[in-house]
Amino acid sequence: MGGGAAMVRLEVNIPGRSLSYPIHIGWDSLGELGQVMSGMGVSRRILVVSDTAVLSLYRAAVERSLAASGFDPGWAVFPPGEETKTLASASRLWDLALENRLDRKSAVLALGGGVVGDLAGFAAAAFMRGVPFVQVPTTLLAQVDSSVGGKVAVDHPLGKNLIGAFHQPLFVLADLSTLRTLPPREVGAGMAEVIKYGLIADAGFFSFLETRAGDLRALEPEALVHVVAACCRLKAEVVAADERDTADVRAILNCGHTIGHAVEAATSYGAFRHGEAVALGMIVEGRIAVADGLWDRSGLDRLQALLESFNLPVSGKGIPADRILAHLPYDKKAVGGKTRFVLPAGIGSVKLSGDVTPEQIAAALRATGFEE
Ligand code: NAD
Ligand code: GLY
Repeated sequence: MGGGAAMVRLEVNIPGRSLSYPIHIGWDSLGELGQVMSGMGVSRRILVVSDTAVLSLYRAAVERSLAASGFDPGWAVFPPGEETKTLASASRLWDLALENRLDRKSAVLALGGGVVGDLAGFAAAAFMRGVPFVQVPTTLLAQVDSSVGGKVAVDHPLGKNLIGAFHQPLFVLADLSTLRTLPPREVGAGMAEVIKYGLIADAGFFSFLETRAGDLRALEPEALVHVVAACCRLKAEVVAADERDTADVRAILNCGHTIGHAVEAATSYGAFRHGEAVALGMIVEGRIAVADGLWDRSGLDRLQALLESFNLPVSGKGIPADRILAHLPYDKKAVGGKTRFVLPAGIGSVKLSGDVTPEQIAAALRATGFEE
């Protein structure tokens, strides 16, 4: 264990299904992968799914660790990027699973960011009606969000994540030292989701982020382990309460996402990383909350300052407000054609609202710099 950071082990418990699984969060801990996997009842034949960029950095360490514990991995490698998250890639994975003679006790292991995790998990959910699946996330976004909770999916030409399933992993192993090779812009995008957890559920955690922003930008191990563990703890609680996202509990994770998804779609998914669009979304949704008297202006100012300290966008300059409004009816949270928002009601608390008018949204967009 490097950097003096402690290894943290958390548990995701899903009481309704008597299901639980561990999340191992550490520093320089990739070498423990084989050992963690042995004793979990999976076959020695497994399939590692990754992208070329991640594999060029981490294949040797993963291969060594798996071999030392007697595992015999096959490799499924895809180009990096969202374009890989398709049904055609899943189909290729199923071919490789058969060619590699996976059986029902073989694990599919996702090594990479959310793209690889979502794709590998979706393929594992359907292969032989479901085989074990292991998450080894290597982006901050995947470590704090996508590797936990079992939402797995591929994209459809008509929209993101439209073909999917719920398939919880056997375990998650997050080695935060892998973030040292992650481009800084990707680290920032992950930080937007980290800040979101503080905003929706934990004022003390939000203050910690304000105090330790410099250490986090420098990827200081002890601060990072604390942050990723806090996010995973919060996500585990939410998933335990509402695994299938049907009880208006898991929906709180979508704060900033109603506007964020519209920003991504309105800019053809080319201008912003997902986390960057969520940062901008939190600002617009925060403005709606302030104008509605739900939140105080000083809270919004703190949010903006924290996002800016991680170089995240807080202005919609150059994006037409009309395009955002046109995308809102397609939001997955919309019910009966009405857009629903998860609005900040304080640092650490949110309120679901289906009463926001198009005029209120337009005013908040204009105040955030979106174009008329
Ligand atoms: P990503 O998987 O595309 O990874 C970003 C880039 O970083 C890629 O180019 C990748 O090759 C590279 N990379 C990954 N780890 C690296 C490392 N350690 N060093 C150097 N380069 C590295 O993007 P992401 O932001 O991790 O994930 C986005 C995806 O996650 C989207 O498809 C989104 O829909 C999905 N998502 C899913 C959930 C969920 O609950 N399932 C939640 C949020 C997001
Ligand atoms: N990332 C949102 C969720 O897992 O529900």
